[in-house]
Amino acid sequence: MVINGKPSLTCFLCFYISLRNSKAGDTVTSTLPLTDGQTLLSAGGRFELGFFNPQSSPNRYLGIWYKELTSDEGIVWVANRQTPLSETNSTLKISNDGNLIIVNKNGSIVWSSNSSSPTQSIVSAQLLDSGNLVLKDQNDNTPSNYLWQSFDHPSDTLLPGMKLGWNLKTGMNLFLSSSKTIADVSIGNYRFGIDLHGVPQLLLWQGEDVRFRAGYWNGVRFPGFPSMNPSPLFPYNFISNEEEVYFTLEFNNQSGVGQLMALNQSGIVTYVLWNAIIHNWVINNIGPVDQCQYYNFCGAYGWCNINNGPVLCQCLDGFIPKSADEWNSMYYSGGCVKRTNFDCRNGEGFLKFSDVKVLDTRNAVLKSKIGLSECEEVCMNNCSCTAYALADIKEGSGCLLWFGELVDIRSYPVNGQELFIKMAASEIDHGKPEINDKRRVILVATCVPLLLGILLLGLIKYTWNRRKENEIGKENIEDSKELELPMLDFNILSAATGNFSYSNKIGEGGFGPVYKVIHIHIHHLLS
Ligand SMILES: *[C@@H]1O[C@H](CO)[C@@H](O)[C@H](O)[C@H]1NC(C)=O
Ligand SMILES: *[C@@H]1O[C@H](CO)[C@@H](O)[C@H](O)[C@H]1NC(C)=O
Ligand SMILES: *[C@@H]1O[C@H](CO)[C@@H](O)[C@H](O)[C@H]1NC(C)=O
Ligand SMILES: *[C@@H]1O[C@H](CO)[C@@H](O)[C@H](O)[C@H]1NC(C)=O
Ligand SMILES: *[C@@H]1O[C@H](CO)[C@@H](O)[C@H](O)[C@H]1NC(C)=O
Ligand SMILES: *[C@@H]1O[C@H](CO)[C@@H](O)[C@H](O)[C@H]1NC(C)=O
Repeated sequence: MVINGKPSLTCFLCFYISLRNSKAGDTVTSTLPLTDGQTLLSAGGRFELGFFNPQSSPNRYLGIWYKELTSDEGIVWVANRQTPLSETNSTLKISNDGNLIIVNKNGSIVWSSNSSSPTQSIVSAQLLDSGNLVLKDQNDNTPSNYLWQSFDHPSDTLLPGMKLGWNLKTGMNLFLSSSKTIADVSIGNYRFGIDLHGVPQLLLWQGEDVRFRAGYWNGVRFPGFPSMNPSPLFPYNFISNEEEVYFTLEFNNQSGVGQLMALNQSGIVTYVLWNAIIHNWVINNIGPVDQCQYYNFCGAYGWCNINNGPVLCQCLDGFIPKSADEWNSMYYSGGCVKRTNFDCRNGEGFLKFSDVKVLDTRNAVLKSKIGLSECEEVCMNNCSCTAYALADIKEGSGCLLWFGELVDIRSYPVNGQELFIKMAASEIDHGKPEINDKRRVILVATCVPLLLGILLLGLIKYTWNRRKENEIGKENIEDSKELELPMLDFNILSAATGNFSYSNKIGEGGFGPVYKVIHIHIHHLLS
């Protein structure tokens, strides 16, 4: 439950009180229940379980939080989300039928693990150092034999080792659901999980409506989280096979460094990286963070470019607004339609768009065995196919084919992908892809500094020559010719760029590296 705020004093106190009565153990057994005021501490000391009141709420809950974090930021799971306690003095215990239950001070059961697995054995509940609360046969530590586990009942936080997605055999679907408010942690409006229609995607719903699309797994990341880059410190993975489809954060070997993902009360997905040693959390808001991330903001065939504000939406090349009036009054959801209708059988081809967020795949098909060129052929030969793209950018294989309207298109300056949209042949002749034409960007980025550099060096040389001329008092017409074609001396360049030092390197253009020279840029051609 990551909230964007300062640790609250009330909660610090309430945790302080509970810490004071800390129960030195990680297990609840039939003979050792946990009473309000006591807590369980996981073996490695990372997670704690106990009763708490969020902020100044009168509601009392049983939850799990990071031991190190004395605020609501640390709460990662709540048991009785839908059935808060109104008073203290409740107990967490093992019932006679082997379930984990919360009993209020009057003796009524307010929450139960509801495990249906019949068991004759002695059952206990243990808080593991992963943050998972497991109900198990006291002598059986095999994960697949757990009778119940909190990781199968997520609240709003995804911890390493949890699965976000589907068990296709049992039909069990695990997703995050937001809390209503900070004080009332009952299930709110937002839901974040895997959608299985078409090609599986990670979606965020508000009620029944899709609000944000992290998208399908392209082998490296989700297109909707372009800034979430895989790293050995913060590993994660997407698994899709006949039995399961899920996203998971993984553990790393570096103790004290970890990650989590959470869905906050206003429907924002946050990705939190922490370093417990220096007590430093880095909260990345990853979706939706700008208007272009709201699902299908520009309607079908409209594309959203956040740098185009205030007019964020444009029709794709070859398309025009469905309603020009609406579009001109910045009401975009009607989207765009083809400028030139075409008959499937004659004169059509594909227009390539670069740096795009891959589209909604609920109406797409995945062909993992074929490459891009075969993909084009398949799409060309099927009248209802509207677009295709590379499926796995890591392996450079597989293909996605779309059938029907293309929705939720946006451009990305980094980590976008290529998309091929079917178009009338006439459109391909006169149309050019507009989304982030990289060549144009590179041209501007390298040619302008180059010209500036040449001009400046030319000017220096020109004034230097003029001074020399004045000194010598001699006219030399040939010298002025050098103004038009200055030769850049390697030593001058070398000195100006600190011997082409890495710290002065500002990027790489199509012709070689680009270096910084005080406040102008010179594109050096000598690499
Ligand atoms: C709560 O429990 C404590 C200790 O068991 C007891 O002293 C106290 O009277 C109880 N409070 C209520 C309101 O039942
Ligand atoms: C406990 O019982 C008392 C007396 O019957 C009642 O007033 C109170 O509302 C009950 N509390 C709960 C939490 O059920
Ligand atoms: C357990 O089952 C009861 C009765 O079916 C239901 O009311 C309750 O919500 C369930 N509790 C949980 C935590 O699923
Ligand atoms: C983590 O541990 C695994 C196996 O124990 C090892 O193969 C891997 O190299 C380790 N990774 C890092 C980053 O230390
Ligand atoms: C959810 O996160 C966003 C981004 O950090 C923040 O602006 C918003 O206030 C948060 N909502 C709540 C209810 O904490
Ligand atoms: C076009 O593709 C769709 C979806 O894969 C398929 O159902 C349909 O049979 C194909 N049509 C033709 C003519 O191949």
